[in-house]
Amino acid sequence: MTALQRILRPAFWRLDDWTSRVFGAAWNPLYNLGALGFFFYWIVAISGIYVYVFFDTGVTEAYDSVAYMTEDQWYLAGVMRSLHRYAGDAMVVVMVLHLIREFAYDRLRGARWFSWLTGVPIILLVLASGITGYWLVWDQLAQYVAIATTEWLDWLPIFGEPVARNFLAPDALDDRFFTWLVFLHIAVPLLLLLALWLHLQRVSRPRINPPRGLAAASFTALLVLSLVVPATSHAPADLAKVPTVLDLDWFYLGFYPLLDLWSHGTVWVTAAILTLTLAAMPWLPPFRRPAVAQVDLDNCNGCARCAEDCPFNAISMEHRTDGKPFDREAVVKDSLCVSCGICAGSCPTATPFRRAAALVPGIELPDATLAALRDRLDRMADADGQQVYLLACEHGVRPETLQRPGVAVAALPCVGALPPSFIDYLLSRCGAAGVYLAGCAEGNCHFRLGDTWTEARLDRQRDPGLRKRVPRERVRCDGFEPHQSARLRRSVATFLDNVRELPPQEIPSARQLGARFGRAHGDGGVGSS
Ligand code: HEM
Ligand code: SF4
Ligand code: SF4
Repeated sequence: MTALQRILRPAFWRLDDWTSRVFGAAWNPLYNLGALGFFFYWIVAISGIYVYVFFDTGVTEAYDSVAYMTEDQWYLAGVMRSLHRYAGDAMVVVMVLHLIREFAYDRLRGARWFSWLTGVPIILLVLASGITGYWLVWDQLAQYVAIATTEWLDWLPIFGEPVARNFLAPDALDDRFFTWLVFLHIAVPLLLLLALWLHLQRVSRPRINPPRGLAAASFTALLVLSLVVPATSHAPADLAKVPTVLDLDWFYLGFYPLLDLWSHGTVWVTAAILTLTLAAMPWLPPFRRPAVAQVDLDNCNGCARCAEDCPFNAISMEHRTDGKPFDREAVVKDSLCVSCGICAGSCPTATPFRRAAALVPGIELPDATLAALRDRLDRMADADGQQVYLLACEHGVRPETLQRPGVAVAALPCVGALPPSFIDYLLSRCGAAGVYLAGCAEGNCHFRLGDTWTEARLDRQRDPGLRKRVPRERVRCDGFEPHQSARLRRSVATFLDNVRELPPQEIPSARQLGARFGRAHGDGGVGSS
């Protein structure tokens, strides 16, 4: 972890926690930054289409048509113009927060590099969409932006004739060139949409729509802002004069003062260094990837549950190759696998009750096998039925800080990596009074879907569901930010008290346990299975 991540991460834990208290986990804007980005994109697109109906693409008429919207039709076209501008600004804000947050949580390295790398052109396309929009108003700000941008572009030897020449004299700019600017302002956002589509290719079920309440609240905030502080224009452009006092939109035009302060070459070099550094970040510093999930064909029946549950589209179902009487088999694409283990949690063959044959499920992580997990849990078994098993995700509260009398702790790569049959096993075979699953904070699973699938499996809404015979009051699943160890300890203590007060369940005796496991109990410990 880099020094910057070490600073940013605890700040985000606290910020996430605070926003979850204010908005609730489901509506937490920080958990929905990507979805909000899409939401603002659609507001920009729809308001843009509306504004375009009133917009006149002639160089002399453009300013008047925008003024007409703002002043004469302020209640509709004017509001649409303001929504267009403010939703565009909001998109920059959520994009920057989203980028910093993904970096802080280190969700960019290993197999996750793709989403990050495709995010880099998105930044450039978002900025280009906004900047070309400012040209179209053809006021003094547009004049400043158009001249500064084209002079900057002209520094590169890519255009036959300097583009800035179009803005040198009042009669130099013709309607054709202006129409070309309009085309750019439509084409670049369309390219952005394509880039956003690409951005999501390696995540399954991406959250692209914010929850309704959050969407309604964001839209209302933009609408109120549009009514209270409507977007306005500067004085009309006049190529005979140099624009003077300008009110910059800092979200899109924040770096323009640099074009006045530094040479164009320096700004190009700075922009290139920043872009390349950003693009290289998934590999800075190099990341040692953990072993990826492996399929054991002898135990795979082709049910496709692992492919359904994999949050990173890393599993495909292919034609059977081993002659077994099933249509398909699971195949892991190594380059996409982030080693979360969620597929092992979904595999129906991953049952700890198997004793006759070795516990080898259809799919699992070689570095965190379920057989090793069962051994560890077996070693922690307690015959008096007063112990709670705390199975904690390695990305949440550090499991080694949670050991307490009456609490047996084991770490998991993700709560979603635990097959529900293990809970049944702990309660019915290991003498557990209760099982507590502690994952990442609700809505903020490090592996995106681990907490969602776990809740659904526990509620028997998703296969493999918790068996009906398992007393649900003895099972609890909750999420915590990594700094919330005190809260987790309190919650586990209350859970322990509660389950101890429940009527005793049928538990195996110490002799039975000893006979089953063939060793003394209570010597378990924390650590990845
Ligand atoms: C407005 C622009 C952007 C939008 C609308 C957007 C949208 C999204 C969405 C919807 C997701 C999936 C979230 C989920 O369901 O887990 C996502 C993931 C991600 N995005 Fe963006 N994104 C944008 C810009 C960026 C930028 C600029 C970067 C970084 C350069 C970036 C980096 C990432 C990363 C690293 C992930 C996580 C993938 C993972 O969990 O492995 N995004 N984005
Ligand atoms: S969940 Fe298990 S049995 Fe089903 S396809 Fe995947 S590996 Fe095979
Ligand atoms: S461990 Fe399994 S669920 Fe997780 S990314 Fe790899 S194949 Fe997908």
